[in-house]
Amino acid sequence: MLTVVTHPLVQHKLSLMRDVHTGVKEFRELAAEVSMLLAYEAMRDLELEPTRLQTPLQEGEFPMLSGKKLALVAILRAGLVMTDAIVNLVPAAKVGHIGLYRDPQTLQPVAYYNKLPADIAERRVFLTDPMLATGGSASAAIASLKAAGAHSIKLMSILAAPEGIAVIERDHPDVEIVTAAVDERLNDHGYIVPGLGDAGDRIYGTK
Ligand code: PRP
Ligand code: URA
Repeated sequence: MLTVVTHPLVQHKLSLMRDVHTGVKEFRELAAEVSMLLAYEAMRDLELEPTRLQTPLQEGEFPMLSGKKLALVAILRAGLVMTDAIVNLVPAAKVGHIGLYRDPQTLQPVAYYNKLPADIAERRVFLTDPMLATGGSASAAIASLKAAGAHSIKLMSILAAPEGIAVIERDHPDVEIVTAAVDERLNDHGYIVPGLGDAGDRIYGTK
C-alpha cells in the first residue's frame, strides 16, 4: 500500500528541499519538519485506549495511546534526521539503526551496521529513509528487520521513485509506504528526477 501525503505544508516544505539554493541548515530543518508531518499520517492507525484521569474540573475517561510498543529504525545515514525528529512525538519509542550505503557503480546496497531493539518482534516498526530510489536499500533493510522478527513495518520516505515503490511492493507487499511525493523516474546514475539530489550530502554538508 502506498500513501502520498499531499498536505500543503508537506508539499511546500518538500519544494524548499528540492531547491538547489537551500543550504545545509535549512535542508536539515525541513527534513525534520517533513518527517514529523509524515509521522502524523503514518501513525494515524495507532491504537488508543480509554484512560481514567482527573482534569482540573472532573474525572473521566480519555483516549491515550495503548501500551503497544513502537520502534523507529533509521537507515543510515540520511534516515537519522528523520528518527531524531519523530522520536520527539513518540518519546517512548526505541530507536534502531541499519547502516547501508549504495555502491555508486552497482547501485546495490552494502550493509555495514545493524543494531535493533532486542524486542523488535513485539513492536510496530517505522523504518525511515528520505530517499526510495531503486528500492535496494529499503528492501534490504526490511529483510533484515524481518530476519530479526519484525512483522509490522511501515516505510517512511520523503521522496520516492516509481521504480523503488515497485521493488518494495514486489519484495514486501505487507509493508505500507508513506511518502511526500512520487517523482517521475530515476536517471542513469540511480538518482530520483527531478528529485532533491543526494539527501545524505545535503543533510550533512558532505561532498
Ligand atoms: C541514499 C539514501 C538511501 C539510498 C536510496 O543513501 O539515503 O539510503 O541512497 O537508494 P536506493 O533506493 O537506490 O537504494 P546513500 O547510499 O547515499 O548513503 P548515505 O545515506 O550514507 O549517504
Ligand atoms: N539517494 C539519494 O540521496 N538521492 C537520490 O536521488 C537517490 C538515492
